[in-house]
Amino acid sequence: MKVGDRHYRSLWSEGPGGPVHIIDQTGLPHVFATRALDSPEAVAEAIVTMRVRGAPLIGVAAAFGVALAISREASDAALDRAVRALAATRPTAVNLAWALARMRRRLAPLSPGERAPAAWAEAQAIADEDAALNEAIGRHGVELLAREHAARGRPVNVLTHCNAGWLATVDWGTALAPVFLAHDRGIPVHVWVDETRPRSQGLLTAWELAGHGVPHTLVADNAGGHLMQHGRVDLVIVGADRVTRRGDVANKIGTYLKALAAQANAVPFYAAVPTPTIDWAVDDALAGIPIEERSGDEVRLVRGLDGDGRPATVAVAPPATPVANPAFDVTPAALVSGILTERGLFAAREESLRALRPVARDAAVAP
Ligand code: MRU
Repeated sequence: MKVGDRHYRSLWSEGPGGPVHIIDQTGLPHVFATRALDSPEAVAEAIVTMRVRGAPLIGVAAAFGVALAISREASDAALDRAVRALAATRPTAVNLAWALARMRRRLAPLSPGERAPAAWAEAQAIADEDAALNEAIGRHGVELLAREHAARGRPVNVLTHCNAGWLATVDWGTALAPVFLAHDRGIPVHVWVDETRPRSQGLLTAWELAGHGVPHTLVADNAGGHLMQHGRVDLVIVGADRVTRRGDVANKIGTYLKALAAQANAVPFYAAVPTPTIDWAVDDALAGIPIEERSGDEVRLVRGLDGDGRPATVAVAPPATPVANPAFDVTPAALVSGILTERGLFAAREESLRALRPVARDAAVAP
């Protein structure tokens, strides 16, 4: 997507040997800066600190982290070390394990001398595929928005949570891909953007929508139920970090509350995901999906600009305040109207999602 006049991906590589460039998302929406990553350690740091974030992008970044590691040392031990270290960065997005498993499958059978070019080619393929999958999600999802517009004869009001736009992927985004396409096709759409405390990824969403000229309104996380009660939300579209084969959706903390409010108000609730986000192995979503617990300081401290427009951090709670900071929650399939994928819209049920299941070899995600 474009930043000003220039097309950007959220991550790009200079080719074999690196470095890999990212948009450093910790500065946005106030400071647009890119950063060069030249080692697997730098990639791991970028994932942990959320310079890169969003399930698909985490997977792609990790794949390039393996390529950087293999360029340095191509032994079995080095491959194993890199995969393990990168897998430990963030636990919830299954795309991370999926991308690392794919890199290992591609590289392990090769001799060390063959590995580096193969690693860069595979990481680039994962990145290019991600952009294509998301564009396809957009093409399917725009039909939903076109139907809503035709039925209502006025702009379609979408509510989204967190950031599942192009910054969270290589390009296009998942939940926002249909919105960008609708806007491009002249279908009037307005987005209610949940702020998404504590990391405020909604500010990234608002920045993306502003950049694309899409009308939007930033709202506090608690506003969604009220807006739905008053008929001001036509549909909810979110992304996901992991979808089970039964259609349960793990996504940014607060998603579950939006799904409950949506059901209570008969508002359709969709999760938009590329198929690598589906975890075919996990059985019980509540017991089986690891929910990342992040630092309490993310809740105690708020970052922004000071009165002089300089980046600043202020404390909204004293340092000793006990804090819990679960980063994700699980929305049960029963609350999900559909799973929007690159192959179309599927019911959030095992019998329906089964059609998306890849052949057994590709389904294994343990890195
Ligand atoms: O903690 P984050 O910002 O990485 O969480 C991101 C989300 O929850 C997104 O909704 C999800 O990863 C899908 S991104 C296309």
